[in-house]
Amino acid sequence: MMNLTTTQLPEFARLRRTRRTVSLRRLTRESELAARNLILPLFVSEVDAEPVEVVSMPGVNRWPLSHIGKAAMQADAAGLGAVLLFGIPEDKDVNGTGASTADGIVQRAIGEIRGAGYSGVLITDVCLCEYTTHGHCGLVDERGTVLNDPTLDRLGEIAVSHGHAGADIVAPSSMMDGQVGTIRNALDSEGLNEVAILSYSAKYASAYYGPFRDAADGSPQFGDRRSHQMDPANAREALREHQEDIAEGADMLMVKPGLSYLDVLRSSRDNFPDYPIAAYNVSGEYSMVKAAAERGWIDEREVVLESLLAFRRAGADLIITYHALDAAAWMAAADE
Ligand code: PBG
Ligand code: ZN
Repeated sequence: MMNLTTTQLPEFARLRRTRRTVSLRRLTRESELAARNLILPLFVSEVDAEPVEVVSMPGVNRWPLSHIGKAAMQADAAGLGAVLLFGIPEDKDVNGTGASTADGIVQRAIGEIRGAGYSGVLITDVCLCEYTTHGHCGLVDERGTVLNDPTLDRLGEIAVSHGHAGADIVAPSSMMDGQVGTIRNALDSEGLNEVAILSYSAKYASAYYGPFRDAADGSPQFGDRRSHQMDPANAREALREHQEDIAEGADMLMVKPGLSYLDVLRSSRDNFPDYPIAAYNVSGEYSMVKAAAERGWIDEREVVLESLLAFRRAGADLIITYHALDAAAWMAAADE
C-alpha cells in the first residue's frame, strides 16, 4: 500500500472513473458470487407427513422423507454447490441412538436423495442434539455436564453410518475436542477413506441459532452450549480451533455464524490460505432479513446478494445459506 504521507495524492485522482458504467464496474470487480459457492441446508423429518414451513423461517420447510429427493434435485437444478442434511427423528433418548442407526432418518434420506438421481455433493451434519432427549450436542453426566471424550465414539459412529449410506462429506458440529480425529479414524477403519470432513471448526455460542433450534427441535432442555461452543469475544482462539482440526485431518474449515463474524472469517482466510473455508449464514441472520423484507423495510433481493457477496469478499469459498435457492434464481435472472 502506498503511503499517502510520503507520496502526494495525485491531483487528478478520480476513483469514480472505473465506476461510471456497468461494464467498467464489472471489469474492476474484486470478488464474485456464484451458485456453486452456495450450500443449501435441508431438514428431513420423521415426524411430519407433509412439508411444514418453519414458523420463524419463512420459505424453509421440514421435508418428510417422501419429499426430500425432490428438494435435493431442486438444489441441483439451481446449480448449487451442495446440500447439507439435518435430521429430525421420531424418537429420542439420552444417547441419541437414532443418530447412527442404518434406518435412521438421515441415513434413509441419503438413500432417497441418491435414488431420486441427485449426483451433487451431499453433506451431512454430525451431532447429537436433534437425537437426544436433553437436546445437548454430546452425552451428559448426572449433573448435566456435557462430556467430551465419551461423546467422541458416538460421533464416529454417526459419521460412519452417514458414510455407508452415501454421504460425500460429514460435518461435525458438536464442538467436542478431538471430534475430527475420531471421525477420521472411524471412517478410515471402515474403508470410508473418500468421505471428506467439513469441520464446524470455529463455531460460536450464538443467539443467532434460535430459529434453527425451532426448526430442528434441538434446543437444550437445560443449560446452554457455552461450555463447548466458542465465546463470541474471542477471535484469535478461532485460529487455534482451525489448527486443531487441521492437525486431526479436516479437509475443510468453517466459521459460524457468518455476518457478525466476518472479522474471524477474514483472519481465517489469511492464516489458512490453502484450505477451503465455509461460512454459515445462520438461521437468525436469515430470519431477520425475512422479517424486515416482509414489512417492506428492506429490499430482500438486494440485501441478500450484498450479504452473500460480503462473505466472498471476506474470504469464504463456500456459504451455507437458507437463501441459496432464491439467490441462485436472482443471479440467473440477472445473467439473462
Ligand atoms: C447443531 C447445529 C446448530 C446449527 C447447526 N448445527 C445449532 C446449535 O449448535 O445450537 C445452527 C444452524 C443455524 O442456526 O442455522 N449442533
Ligand atoms: Zn448439536
